Amino acid sequence: MDNNKRLLNKKAIVTGGAQGIGAGIVKRLYQEGVEIIIADLKKDVAEKLINELDNNKGQINFFEVDVSDEEKIINLFNFTKNKWGQLDILINNAGIEEGYLIKDQTYEKYKKTININMNASFLTSKYSLSLFEKSGGGRIVNITSIQGIKGYKGNIAYNTAKGGLINMTRVLAVELAEKNILVNSVAPGFINTPMAIMKDGVFEGDTDWFKDVYMKYEKLPIGRYGQPDDIAGAVYFFCSKDSKYVTGQTLLVDGGVSSTF
Ligand SMILES: NC(=O)c1ccc[n+]([C@@H]2O[C@H](COP(=O)([O-])OP(=O)(O)OC[C@H]3O[C@@H](n4cnc5c(N)ncnc54)[C@H](O)[C@@H]3O)[C@@H](O)[C@H]2O)c1
Repeated sequence: MDNNKRLLNKKAIVTGGAQGIGAGIVKRLYQEGVEIIIADLKKDVAEKLINELDNNKGQINFFEVDVSDEEKIINLFNFTKNKWGQLDILINNAGIEEGYLIKDQTYEKYKKTININMNASFLTSKYSLSLFEKSGGGRIVNITSIQGIKGYKGNIAYNTAKGGLINMTRVLAVELAEKNILVNSVAPGFINTPMAIMKDGVFEGDTDWFKDVYMKYEKLPIGRYGQPDDIAGAVYFFCSKDSKYVTGQTLLVDGGVSSTF
């Protein structure tokens, strides 16, 4: 049984791991034998997941944190240091999407989106270094977006943050290779999570415009909305021995949507 757990006893932090894509990543890493700290704002949601997956046996833990708050990030890594004394995997997944046209975008809300979606990965990467050193290296995986490689109308802060995160991935890869830390990112397309529920409560995949543009006119070659486990598989690859010569890369996991026009 344990032979199937290819990351047995590795230690991972998953930000935003309470729900959606993060929960999919937690589930996959858990199945591979990883010990996990979910770093999220949503205590109740995370505890429900931990209960379902692990029946509170201690393989998955929760730490409440706002990833855009430097002091809270320092607390997270102090907690991790006391618990494990080392770290093997850091998944920077927490994110928010609040889209506005530039004419309607306040600077405060713009900065909030940039802080959570981009600057948080700077903070977690910076404060994780000494714990990675104790492990002799490790893996960082940033969850960016296909919106980080193209411009999407009405989403300037999110697109800018995700684009910045793709280049932060390259810089970290270049700087941290000598420490045996490999850094890559995964850029999801349309994934069915709470983030895909629109302001009016409707799931984006059920809207007429989505069905028209992406299904009828075949802009989504694989022809279905993505699921969190589609992303978790790519994240697992970047945490596994199979990617030992890969760093600085961004893998688009989007059903082919970015390959057509
Ligand atoms: N769902 C998609 O279609 C999609 C597409 C591309 C990229 N992404 C990216 O994938 C990641 C996960 O998205 P999701 O769809 O699962 O979203 P989600 O809203 O379902 O989950 C996001 C999680 O992040 C947590 N979070 C938000 N702000 C936080 C903060 N300041 N501090 C700590 N935790 C915080 C939330 O509590 C939640 O648990 C995000 O970075 C998102 O931008 C999602």
